[in-house]
Amino acid sequence: MHDTFEHYKAAADYIAARAPFVPEIAIVLGSCLGPFADTLEERVSIDYADIPNFLVTTVESHAGKLIFGKVRGKRIVCMSGRFHFYEGYDYEQLVIPVRVLKLLGVKTLILTNAAGAVNTDYRPGDVMIIRDHIKLTGASPLRGPNIEEFGPRFFDMTKTYTPCLRELAKACAPQDGLRVHEGVYMFFTGPQFETPAEIRAARILGADAVGMSTVTEALTAAHCSLPVLGLSVMTNMAAGVLDQPLTAEEVDETATRIGAYFSSYVSDIIERM
Ligand code: HPA
Repeated sequence: MHDTFEHYKAAADYIAARAPFVPEIAIVLGSCLGPFADTLEERVSIDYADIPNFLVTTVESHAGKLIFGKVRGKRIVCMSGRFHFYEGYDYEQLVIPVRVLKLLGVKTLILTNAAGAVNTDYRPGDVMIIRDHIKLTGASPLRGPNIEEFGPRFFDMTKTYTPCLRELAKACAPQDGLRVHEGVYMFFTGPQFETPAEIRAARILGADAVGMSTVTEALTAAHCSLPVLGLSVMTNMAAGVLDQPLTAEEVDETATRIGAYFSSYVSDIIERM
């Protein structure tokens, strides 16, 4: 169904006709990091549901809107609400948003998420700049007929998380209020949180954090040569690190607590892009 370039083009054309400008930077707002959208000036929003050939979000805490606006003078588009494999989409459908952003003219993609900390030096509330990822489960979103307009059949993943953007994020790390690390994000499909044994395995494999998003978007961006900055907020210690069950409430609480600090960190990075 999504195997023609025109399919994506129709979505991008619909958005471009209603957008106030060509955005330089797109940012995908992870679970409960939605407050960042409120900091945009001169906001114009478009509901996902109105965009032809787009997807509709099913997660309550995700708004389901593209929001255009300015942050420190930069032209931004936010995806307030993202799409996850656990919602029931096929991997192949998960390429849609990033391809549409690419066609809108976006030059840099910032992916944010809530994640569980596997690295025991991390604490809830810390931020991890994603250096690389591990995805061992399931198929690729790039499976199926290749659309040459976006990129080649076989593509490189060695610098998916763009080195100069990672350096910039490190340089912007605040001296106080937020601890910032750099590490490896491992994708799990969810919706269940991982088991303690899966987390021990993830740690042995080299993961510092685990989560249920971001990787499909990063793969799509790598295919169409879109530079990526990935930022994870550690909302909880991963399963089995502490002797307590994991809950969505804990994830939301930390995300809410850290939201304002995180928003201002992201704005500082955007300003210097
Ligand atoms: N595991 C997977 N996804 C998550 C977690 C976690 O511990 N925390 C927030 N998102």
